[in-house]
Amino acid sequence: MSLFSSKSPEIDITDIQLPVHIGIIMDGNGRWAKKRGLPRTAGHKVGAETFRKISRYCSDIGIKYLTVYAFSTENWRRPLEEVNTIMVYFRDYLNEALRDFADDTIRVKFLGDISQFPKDIQELMIENEKMSAVHEGMVLNIAMNYGGRAELVTAMRKIAKMAANGEIKADDIDNAVTEKLISDNLYTAGQPDPDLIIRPSGEYRTSNFLLWQSAYAEYYIDDVLWPDYTKNDLNRALIEYSKRNRRFGGV
Ligand code: FPP
Repeated sequence: MSLFSSKSPEIDITDIQLPVHIGIIMDGNGRWAKKRGLPRTAGHKVGAETFRKISRYCSDIGIKYLTVYAFSTENWRRPLEEVNTIMVYFRDYLNEALRDFADDTIRVKFLGDISQFPKDIQELMIENEKMSAVHEGMVLNIAMNYGGRAELVTAMRKIAKMAANGEIKADDIDNAVTEKLISDNLYTAGQPDPDLIIRPSGEYRTSNFLLWQSAYAEYYIDDVLWPDYTKNDLNRALIEYSKRNRRFGGV
C-alpha cells in the first residue's frame, strides 16, 4: 500500500543524503481557504493537520531536527478573531502532544518569547518541553512568537549583560564575542544550523525566519499551499536537496 496520495507517484528517498536539520515556513493557509470561499481560519485548521502529518513523517524517516514557523512576532497584527482561533489550534495541539508524545521519542522545544501567549498555553509549552526533554529522537522546534531579529536582540542583550557583570572583561571583548557565543545565546543554542529550509506557497522571502542560523541553508520554494502539502512534496524537496552542491563559501 502506498503512503502517498494516488494523484502523484511515490518519490523514493532510499539511500539519499538527508539533511540533518530542516526548517519549514508553513505558509499559504489563508490563500488555501480563500480559494475555497472559506474563512482564513479554516486554512489554519487544515494547516495544523498538515503540520502533525509532516512532523511525524520527518521523525519516521530519521530527520534529527525539524523547525517549523508556527507564529511570528508580526502575526499578532492579524485580526483578533484569526489570532484567537490560531490559539485554539495551538491549545488543541499542545494538549494532544502532551498525551501522545509521552510515549514517543520526539523532543519538543519552543523558539521565541512565549511570555506573550495566554498563561495556559505557556504552561502547556513548558509541560511539553519538560515531558519530552528526556527523549532522544527528533528535536521538534516550534517557533512561536518568533522573529529572527528579535532573537538576535535577545542574544545581544544577554551578551551585553555578561559584559556589564564582568563575565566578559572589557579588554577581552574581541576574543570573547565570537560567532559561537552568539549562536550559544540563540533559542537554538547547541543545535546544528538548518541545512534545508522549505517554503511552500511560492513566496521568495525569509520572513524573519532563522536569520542567523540560515546563513548557509539551502532554500527550496514550492508552489503547493501548506494545507495541501504532502509527504511526497517533502520527498521532492529532499531529492532536490541531495543533489545540491554545498560549498559553504568555498569552491
Ligand atoms: C501562515 O499562513 C500560517 C500562519 C501564520 C499560522 C500557522 C499556523 C498553523 C499551521 C496552525 C497551527 C500550528 C501548530 C503548531 C499546531 P498564512 O495565514 O500567512 O497564509 P497566506 O499567506 O496564504 O495568507
